[in-house]
Amino acid sequence: MKFNPLKEKGIPLEKQVRTWHDIASRKYNKNDVDCYSRTRQILMNGIEVEAWNFKHNFARNTSHQDTSEFLAQTKRIEDAQQTTINWLAPCDQSVLETTLGYEQVAVDLTAWMAQNEPDKYVKETFDFGLLEDFDHLYRYAQWAYMIHGISPDNILQGNTDVMLGRPTQNHHNCNIIRLRKPYDKSKATPQTKVNILTLVAGEQQTHNYYGEHGFAYGSELLRETYAEIKDVEEEHVTMYESLIDPTESFYEKLLLHEFTEVCTYHNCYEDEENEKLKAIWEEFLAIEIDHLHTAAELFKKYEKRDPQEVIGEEVVHPCHFESQKEYVGKILNEQIDKRLGTDKDYLYVKDLPDDWASYEIQKTVGEDGSPSEVTIRVIAEQKERDIILASDELKNNVSKLMKKATQKDGMTEDTVTPEEYQEMSKHEFLMS
Ligand SMILES: [Fe+2]
Ligand SMILES: [Fe+2]
Ligand SMILES: [Fe+2]
Ligand SMILES: [Fe+2]
Repeated sequence: MKFNPLKEKGIPLEKQVRTWHDIASRKYNKNDVDCYSRTRQILMNGIEVEAWNFKHNFARNTSHQDTSEFLAQTKRIEDAQQTTINWLAPCDQSVLETTLGYEQVAVDLTAWMAQNEPDKYVKETFDFGLLEDFDHLYRYAQWAYMIHGISPDNILQGNTDVMLGRPTQNHHNCNIIRLRKPYDKSKATPQTKVNILTLVAGEQQTHNYYGEHGFAYGSELLRETYAEIKDVEEEHVTMYESLIDPTESFYEKLLLHEFTEVCTYHNCYEDEENEKLKAIWEEFLAIEIDHLHTAAELFKKYEKRDPQEVIGEEVVHPCHFESQKEYVGKILNEQIDKRLGTDKDYLYVKDLPDDWASYEIQKTVGEDGSPSEVTIRVIAEQKERDIILASDELKNNVSKLMKKATQKDGMTEDTVTPEEYQEMSKHEFLMS
């Protein structure tokens, strides 16, 4: 049945303020929560951070009194929603465990979106980012074992593979060539707009989380690994946000932010089996429906346009979580050697020009080596090999894939070579 949020009833603004107990008391149990309940929790925290942030930005740029008042009132609501959702994570869930959750969000969310994205160029950009977050998960999984002695499956629950993707040291690009072509706001579908905004919010929160927690451990190498990957998340925010038409007005953006909140909560509510979380998604969906109604009224008043021209007549589904191993494996085999071109296009390693714009930054940041490469050397020192959780077909392909991914320039001296991967593959990883 069609769910048109403009025709649904929400919770009125005066009933959206909650008690401290209601805001802060709920938590899940890290040992029995479903991994996709956790990914929803991580994503929706990012959605609320973006909603709150955007409203502050808008508030600093409007002289319309009714708009300022709406923003002032709902910023507090978005902020309290963020607290409830972020603090669902229990205090005994370590930073590295949460980090594996963040990268599981990135991998499985981006893979889902790529398959449900009507715009081919946007899809290609999603596939490109997918292989980078997939590699981050592999690097952090080694650390979760080395620091806490846990299998990545404690968090991933067998739904997401762990193995190298496009190597992290090759994610460092000239910031200018990260910029992609924006969609045309008059032609792009609501699905495309919501997909991008959802992913921007997720990547931004991942960046923020690493920035706020990457110093939580005493290991110098782990600090540097967080710093290296955090910088890639910064590139991801830059890349995905550049897909948005820069001529969208603040009112159009407000409408799209509230619509994205509605769609993501609706999607979470439909998929959720954990009763505690489902109740939150249901209540927050009703809150967002009310926000959307006001955003639509302001849009009509100040833009003199019909909101349905922008958001359509029904919700879209940007964030369904399920195992994406097959799709990710396919993209990995086909695109590990893909790189950013200078004309907002994509190139393969074999076609990179000698003066490729990203070589310089890769050489500069990698002058003392790449922490994400050294990570593999350190675990191999202890255990004779790295942790890989993937099908035999993918596992047997690691050294070949690494060979394919190798650039002729911009690789650090401590790069783990295809031959070394071949050697490691002869050993079995023993967890204990
Ligand atoms: Fe919200
Ligand atoms: Fe990542
Ligand atoms: Fe990312
Ligand atoms: Fe909202």
